[in-house]
Amino acid sequence: MLHGVALKPAKSRKSSTLSGTVRIPGDKSISHRSFMFGGLASGETRITGLLEGEDVINTGKAMQAMGARIEKLGAEWIIHGTGNGALLAPEAPLDFGNAGTGCRLTMGLVGVYDFESTFVGDASLSRRPMGRVLDPLRDMGVQVRSSEGDRLPVTLYGPRTPNPIVYRVPMASAQVKSAVLLAGLNTPGVTTVIEPIMTRDHTEKMLQGFGAELSVETDGNGVRTIRLEGRGRLTGQRIDVPGDPSSTAFPLVAALLVPGSDVTIENVLMNPTRTGLILTLQEMGANIEVLNPRSAGGEDVADLRVRASELKGVTVPAERAPFMIDEYPVLAVASAFAEGTTTMLGLEELRVKESDRLTATATGLKLNGVDCDEGRDTLVVRGRPGGKGYGNPAGGAVETHLDHRIAMSFLVMGLVSEHEVTVDDASIITTSFPEFMDLMTGLGARIDGLAGEAA
Ligand code: S3P
Repeated sequence: MLHGVALKPAKSRKSSTLSGTVRIPGDKSISHRSFMFGGLASGETRITGLLEGEDVINTGKAMQAMGARIEKLGAEWIIHGTGNGALLAPEAPLDFGNAGTGCRLTMGLVGVYDFESTFVGDASLSRRPMGRVLDPLRDMGVQVRSSEGDRLPVTLYGPRTPNPIVYRVPMASAQVKSAVLLAGLNTPGVTTVIEPIMTRDHTEKMLQGFGAELSVETDGNGVRTIRLEGRGRLTGQRIDVPGDPSSTAFPLVAALLVPGSDVTIENVLMNPTRTGLILTLQEMGANIEVLNPRSAGGEDVADLRVRASELKGVTVPAERAPFMIDEYPVLAVASAFAEGTTTMLGLEELRVKESDRLTATATGLKLNGVDCDEGRDTLVVRGRPGGKGYGNPAGGAVETHLDHRIAMSFLVMGLVSEHEVTVDDASIITTSFPEFMDLMTGLGARIDGLAGEAA
């Protein structure tokens, strides 16, 4: 037992041709922000295409606990927000489960309020560093009580008048950038975030859509300065959430690897801060056709036709890491089947995800026969096209450490390995992609849960 819930192992087996057309559930980052900004804005927000994974639902519950009214009518989520600056003190600790984004962004959103809020989460979230968000909040005048090393549980108490800060984000993190901006929403004056390395820009775009006075300036070196005028009015919006490119990665890599496959994935978010994996796979020789590119709700969206391809190893530069940060485990799986060596650089942030993803990926690859080396912030994979000898015939299970993306990546690996690949827990997949099993098996993937449950 890792999280008080019995683990649910699963395994995948060599599959023949994957084919069909699928629609991926809504983007997780945009779904979290839709609940948050809708819950905060004046008037009504209507959301379609929302990701109904556990992570996002926890964010919705937190917004309800702070005064937002949220209901689902047919396919639409309808939110009546409190109005900016008018969140209510939550009566009980806010439980974010497995979700770093929900927790860290909400800490920014409510931490500056002149009342107490407490944040808790599961075993994975409770291991993750919160200091990266708590430090700028302290600068704004927030009192913090936290467990050792700035871990959860965390209790925040904001000042009567928060202090607008100029904050240079010390690591490439959209969560940290967003937490400071959201704190700025209830802070008088201009809060400024300097972002030396660009990360996903959903917070900036969506806040502008809700009517915030927010400007972005980019200098000749790509350093972005984001200025937000605090205590302005936000107005409810209509949002159609596009499909999650990070979830798309799993059927996409599976279709590339399983010989003869031809899969179309519809309505995928193509925001350039999220398409690093597609670019990398194309450099590796992947046949990914971008069809019907269009703009929807201020975001680029397209359909992707993916056909099985012979891949070759490449070097993935460190600068690309922020644009494909959640996709390295599944890229590592793709690399294991490529001709030659793939070298991934600049991976230090992988160590503070739902698991230490660098170690979890390298350990899982080795367990299943892949030749790879884990460095401090690098991963080198020497591929073997065809996957002969891959998998673990003894049934040794990949340890997922409560990390949904580790579970899904290794289940993709089993579809092209000579022997079965087993993961110790598939239940965690529901945090981001509840439809994963059905969608993959619908395409022809041989994945199943194991009878009996491991302790
Ligand atoms: C996210 C930012 C990224 C990403 C996470 C979602 C967001 O985290 O890994 O899955 O929605 O802002 P970091 O900001 O820690 O890189």
